[in-house]
Amino acid sequence: KQNRTPLIAGNWKMNLDHLQAIAFVQKLAWSLKDAGHNFADVEAAIFPPFTDLRSVQTLVSADKLELAYGAQDVSQHASGAYTGEISGSFLKQLDCRYVIIGHSERRTLHAETDEIVAAKTAAAIANGIVPIICVGETADDLENHGPSAVPVAQLTAALSSVQSASDIVVAYEPVWAIGSGQAATPEQAEAVCAALRGVLESALGSDVAAKTRILYGGSVKSTNIGGFMKQPNVDGALVGGASLDLAEFASIIRYQK
Ligand code: G3P
Repeated sequence: KQNRTPLIAGNWKMNLDHLQAIAFVQKLAWSLKDAGHNFADVEAAIFPPFTDLRSVQTLVSADKLELAYGAQDVSQHASGAYTGEISGSFLKQLDCRYVIIGHSERRTLHAETDEIVAAKTAAAIANGIVPIICVGETADDLENHGPSAVPVAQLTAALSSVQSASDIVVAYEPVWAIGSGQAATPEQAEAVCAALRGVLESALGSDVAAKTRILYGGSVKSTNIGGFMKQPNVDGALVGGASLDLAEFASIIRYQK
């Protein structure tokens, strides 16, 4: 765990336009600076809508902010007749460090299959963008298959088209915990994250598994982040609703203080 820099990632989903994004990023950066936040201790990243990314890039580069950012999705295709899609190379040109792939809302509302998630993962890696691969079971899955079976199968499938990867991030987000206010317990999160590290070890080897960050997501708040971060296999959080509240998100990032 010492070799893995914790990552606190804020998934804004379809919230905050480019003007709101600029104001939010400036205030977040000031608040972290005032608090003496060291990004080498805890990395922080935001995931705004596509239409905000260029504004965020301009601000981050002009003010030399250490805040990372990325997109909420990427096309599996490189270019061509794919109306509405955004390619990995476009995101790379906007200096996106990360891209979220296979969020449960994409899987459910946009019928993203394991094959599509695998292709998008490969597309991100091919463009030098770190994929944050999301996996997680529904309440029904939990009841019928237990806690790890579905996330383990989803991660195994996502890595199927990855030949080699030195830098990926995995996010375990139980669907029943997303936006419900009912987070998993730290022990539940740890059990699944440990199983996911086992998948990484089999697919990519023990060196990669030991340095890959595995995040927990689902109703994370400033009041429960500490419990998750104490777990040996939980290396950060993917935060939804609470990442839209500046003070709350800043205190999640500053969980050590
Ligand atoms: O991607 C993060 C998200 O799905 C979790 O949402 O609102 O439960 O923190 P929330």
